[in-house]
Amino acid sequence: MNLENLRQKAYEDLKKASSMEELEEVRLKYLGRKQGELTAFLRSFKDMSEDEKREYGPIAQRLRNDLEQEIDEREELLKKQEIGTIDLSIPGVKIESGRIHILSKVYNDVCDIFHSMNFSVAEGPELEEEKYNFDALNIPANHPAREMWDTFWVKNDKNTEGRVMRTHTSPVQVRYMLEHKPPFQMICPGRAYRYEASDATHETDFNQIEGLMIGKDISLANFKFVIEEFFRQFFKDDKIEVKFRASYFPFVEPGVEVDVKIWGKWLEIGGAGMVHPYVLKQGGIDPAKWQGFAFGFGMERLAIIKYGVPDIRLFKSGDERFNKQF
Ligand code: DAH
Repeated sequence: MNLENLRQKAYEDLKKASSMEELEEVRLKYLGRKQGELTAFLRSFKDMSEDEKREYGPIAQRLRNDLEQEIDEREELLKKQEIGTIDLSIPGVKIESGRIHILSKVYNDVCDIFHSMNFSVAEGPELEEEKYNFDALNIPANHPAREMWDTFWVKNDKNTEGRVMRTHTSPVQVRYMLEHKPPFQMICPGRAYRYEASDATHETDFNQIEGLMIGKDISLANFKFVIEEFFRQFFKDDKIEVKFRASYFPFVEPGVEVDVKIWGKWLEIGGAGMVHPYVLKQGGIDPAKWQGFAFGFGMERLAIIKYGVPDIRLFKSGDERFNKQF
């Protein structure tokens, strides 16, 4: 093997290499671990005599260093040339950007609208104490009304005794009353849980919006205005009509079912009523001095009506084709 020939050949090949691919071919041809010519030469070293090793060793090593350096330099040069030839007028690749989930949008819109009417936004725990989810809301143990809310109980141990995945956001009413002095008005959007089979209109977990307004003489008339105003803004429709149907919830008296006429159709939206004196007391508020309304709506239901979603299960499907439509 004539190392001088090898050097010449390699340098000629290098000069001809005009792309990164060709440069890589040259590198493999001479320095490649498997079939590189110089590599083969270096490998044959072990069979050489001491004299040969002494003669060729330094020359071969230098050749390898030179080639490596030369290849690096050519690579830099080629990179610069390639950048120089990029056509900046070619249309770019369209980047798919993420988007906010439709339920989050509804959540934000609801908060914005109530904010505009001076309502605060409150939160409460999803793993709730039995006393807030039921007892303080005038639903004592063994009360038949508990059957309206079949729930997930958490196994008793010393930290979780008597806790349930909250069946509604109503317990936040009491928590809020205990921490705030009236008058006040708040909403509490959040997740609730039910132990029931899921279908197109039911899920084991879903979202509600609780509302509470307490003052000296707050009545259902105030509620009617607030809720009509909310629907007008939420559905962007000034011709919205709202009606109440007498109903029963243990934590309000009287209790009503709220229907809204939207796009010519009456739809049931949720429950409401005047906060029961018992509940006010549980919240540390004197029912002889204060009164007010409460309501609870389904967040998914609002989204379903506004956006025509055919199945509640789609919200949590994680299917991009669903969320892309909004
Ligand atoms: N918590 C009730 C439910 O989940 C809804 C509800 C009805 C909430 C009447 C209220 C109310 O605040 O006044 O079924």
